[in-house]
Amino acid sequence: MDFAEVLKARHMVRTYRPDPVDEETLRRIVKVIHRAPSAGFSQGHRLLVITDAGLRGRIADLYDPAYGGKGFPEWVRQAPVLIALCVREESYHERYRKPDKLDEDGTEIGWPVPYWWFDSGSLLVLLQLAAANEGLATGFFGPHEEGLFELLDLPDDWGLAGVVTLGYAPEEDGVRRELFRQQRLPLDELVEWRH
Ligand SMILES: Cc1cc2nc3c(=O)[nH]c(=O)nc-3n(C[C@H](O)[C@H](O)[C@H](O)COP(=O)(O)O)c2cc1C
Repeated sequence: MDFAEVLKARHMVRTYRPDPVDEETLRRIVKVIHRAPSAGFSQGHRLLVITDAGLRGRIADLYDPAYGGKGFPEWVRQAPVLIALCVREESYHERYRKPDKLDEDGTEIGWPVPYWWFDSGSLLVLLQLAAANEGLATGFFGPHEEGLFELLDLPDDWGLAGVVTLGYAPEEDGVRRELFRQQRLPLDELVEWRH
């Protein structure tokens, strides 16, 4: 697909068709983890890919009731794949304790920006673009419902940024049209120039 088309196709959906995503396609999508930038090449990105129906159902039980109140369908339950977007913060500390990354006084930097969370945003976008390129749609929900962390049973040193939902979207995504009709802010409000 042409990049402009992929970019246009990237948006968050909140409804899916029941069609499963085949394993090879899924592997191609998650492989973008190798293309995701990371501060200092720390490579602290981590993903947990969930196709298991039981676990997906338990996650949906946590999230869909809240979304239902906002007029969404049971979109978490509908999604055939959930991908937990995770970070291993320690990878960054390990990397930034290497001699070439130390501050002038020989200590680890003060992390004015916690790059592990920053980098997970880059991976989110790459996953969305890779999915769009395969004709698939994505959504995202944050780890705001209590109990999600326990359900995922992540390795001890993984943090959780949120969960990507993945699947095929219906041709006509009425949910998106009706609920997300907000106007995009004008470019001049978002981008300043110093010529
Ligand atoms: C960090 C982050 C957290 C988000 N959390 C949620 C969420 O909890 N639930 C949800 O439905 N959408 C969530 N979204 C999706 C945004 O609402 C969406 O990106 C925004 O409305 C712009 O729409 P678009 O991505 O389709 O262009 C989140 C997006 C980001 C980047």
